[in-house]
Amino acid sequence: MRGPQTPLSYENGRLCMQAMPLDELAREFGTPAYIYSGDAIEAAIDSFRRGIGNRKALICYAMKANSNLEVLRLFRARDCGMDIVSGGELYRALRAGVPAHRIVFSGVGKTEAEMVEALQAGILLFCCESEAELRTLSRIACDLGTTAPISLRVNPDVDANTHPYISTGLKDNKFGIPHNRIFDLFREMQLMPGIITKGVGFHIGSQLLDLEGFRSAARIMRNLVEELVALAPLEYIDVGGGLGINYGRENPPDAGDYAHTILSELPFEDMTIVFEPGRYMVGNAGVLLTRVLYNKVNQSKRFIICDAGMNDLIRPALYQAYHDFWPLAEMRLERLVRADLVGPVCESGDFLARDRELCDFQPGDLLAVASAGAYSSVMASNYNARPRPPEVLLSEGRARLVRRRETYADLIHLEVPSRD
Ligand SMILES: Cc1ncc(COP(=O)(O)O)c(C=O)c1O
Repeated sequence: MRGPQTPLSYENGRLCMQAMPLDELAREFGTPAYIYSGDAIEAAIDSFRRGIGNRKALICYAMKANSNLEVLRLFRARDCGMDIVSGGELYRALRAGVPAHRIVFSGVGKTEAEMVEALQAGILLFCCESEAELRTLSRIACDLGTTAPISLRVNPDVDANTHPYISTGLKDNKFGIPHNRIFDLFREMQLMPGIITKGVGFHIGSQLLDLEGFRSAARIMRNLVEELVALAPLEYIDVGGGLGINYGRENPPDAGDYAHTILSELPFEDMTIVFEPGRYMVGNAGVLLTRVLYNKVNQSKRFIICDAGMNDLIRPALYQAYHDFWPLAEMRLERLVRADLVGPVCESGDFLARDRELCDFQPGDLLAVASAGAYSSVMASNYNARPRPPEVLLSEGRARLVRRRETYADLIHLEVPSRD
């Protein structure tokens, strides 16, 4: 298998992560619960870095994929920066001890308050996505008597060949500045007060499984950079994230081929290449543990009902995403049945799998939803007044609770009673 390996394996018939039996963790922390392998995250960071080799580069982990503070600290300990998309993510990154000079700020809708916070923190780059945003940033930086470092996000109009909700580099997407507008805007920027142009960048989408989109975007960027350096010096090329992972049926490129494809198109040895991987770093490192509650048959259709719902893991409902399911007891692999695996939430869209060959799960059985480290716990909600699951990080031979399970009191603690 290419890409990050799953940290799951059976030992004496029990499913383990980092040699720890997951049934014990389910007993200790309850279900549903997110479990992350610190070793797998560190291995993914190391393999990504090896892929880049000795080019001048900065890895800014796209923390939207999983922003638990202890997860962020694993990245900080390996000298990674962060790609943030909100003031809340800036707060989290700083709380995790990530130096501001390794933080880049992406996103089409930065508010003025967020710009002020990021300027005061002294971040590395604002990845600007529109002329209006640039002008706002210029004004705010002048008001604060400072200068905003800018990287212009180019929309290269390249098809990333992925799910439409996670494709971002087409001219119809809201992201980036059309590439035929960049040159003129870049010239205008040289006259704007309060900003300094430091780089250009792109991000064409997520869960990309072939290298063609990356190659085309990098080639467009190379031509652009060759023109732009005649106007102003550039220090950074930001190549975004997007490298896909194996959810069970995919064969993604490995980090070395990915980095080679991009870097060979960008032969600017004196510039720093900023990489923003998210999913690759954490996706295969996490599982969601859940317990089967009931089996039922409606007409001839079988439903396996478990205690994790779309509020805990929305990816199947939102993107028709595929996840593999591993029974915690290996013997359950012996018999397969065709069924839907669904949660308790009152929506027909509340499913983890539809019409799939699944193990013949019985009430009380435990299973691990694999590849649930990215875009999973971060998207959890309280829909149906369901407390969000805890998060547990396995590292240094221990299982550490890094976010506790929410309580019923947590569900209402922000609500302000009316006094009249
Ligand atoms: C600007 C930017 N960079 C990086 C990423 C991370 O993408 P991925 O998790 O696919 O690596 C995203 C995700 O949407 C993004 O919008």
